[in-house]
Amino acid sequence: MTLYGVGLGPGEADLVTVRGERVLESADVVYSPGRLSRSVATEYVPESNIGDLDFPMTRDPEELRTAWKEAACEVAPRAREGDVAFVTLGDPNVYSTFGHLRRTMDAFHPEVELEIVPGVSAVTAFTTALGVEIDAGAGLALKEASGGASPSGPDRMVLFKVTDAPATHEGLDAAGYDVTYGRRLYMEQGETVVTGDPEEVAERDYYTLAYAEKRGIEKDRATAGFDAETNTDPGEADGRTAETEEGSA
Ligand SMILES: C[S@@+](CC[C@H](N)C(=O)[O-])C[C@H]1O[C@@H](n2cnc3c(N)ncnc32)[C@H](O)[C@@H]1O
Repeated sequence: MTLYGVGLGPGEADLVTVRGERVLESADVVYSPGRLSRSVATEYVPESNIGDLDFPMTRDPEELRTAWKEAACEVAPRAREGDVAFVTLGDPNVYSTFGHLRRTMDAFHPEVELEIVPGVSAVTAFTTALGVEIDAGAGLALKEASGGASPSGPDRMVLFKVTDAPATHEGLDAAGYDVTYGRRLYMEQGETVVTGDPEEVAERDYYTLAYAEKRGIEKDRATAGFDAETNTDPGEADGRTAETEEGSA
């Protein structure tokens, strides 16, 4: 049968996709690598269907390989007999533990069918939460900023793992960026914070990201010039209404 990697979205149960929900509800066993992903998954899966796996909290490559081999040995027979899901917050292919499992399964249990259900990633969800628009034609880089790091270069960056916001802020500010922080966006657990003040998110919380934009970059937005005077329904002028325009969606 199949091992599904299911992206749960950022952390609110109603942001799980319809396909993700269907897979979770029909899976025989659902493995969850953390407390937060488990709390989302259990909105769709009875506790009795949550599988038991130990997940390595180490960066040592040898220990990691051993632990994932053991995890794959637990998952493989169940995925040969039935459908199994492994959940991750966000998307399973973005900075996710699922990559370790997928590579290990490919290497040692290639007979197991594998399917990935994409999830709403913090990479895109941050835009709505922070009120940011990434225009067509604009570049956006994804970087890590753990331990106070402040990567620079691209005009627009989304930074994951902002664990020391004041130190990261100092570097980014000096490099000419405006920065907004987002903590626990669309997450049921914990308090959601959106702020430009790094002191408000100074306390370490792994689920913190930042959006950094170079000061003074050119934005070529054809529709940005509308103001109260010009912002009238175009249909009023020539007898049409906006709803009758083809492709208005
Ligand atoms: C290991 S990555 C996992 C990314 C995930 N697979 C995804 O697609 O969103 C974890 C980092 O993503 C960011 N992140 C993930 N979910 C978040 C959320 N709901 N609110 C704020 N940041 C989040 C944080 O910067 C965190 O350190």
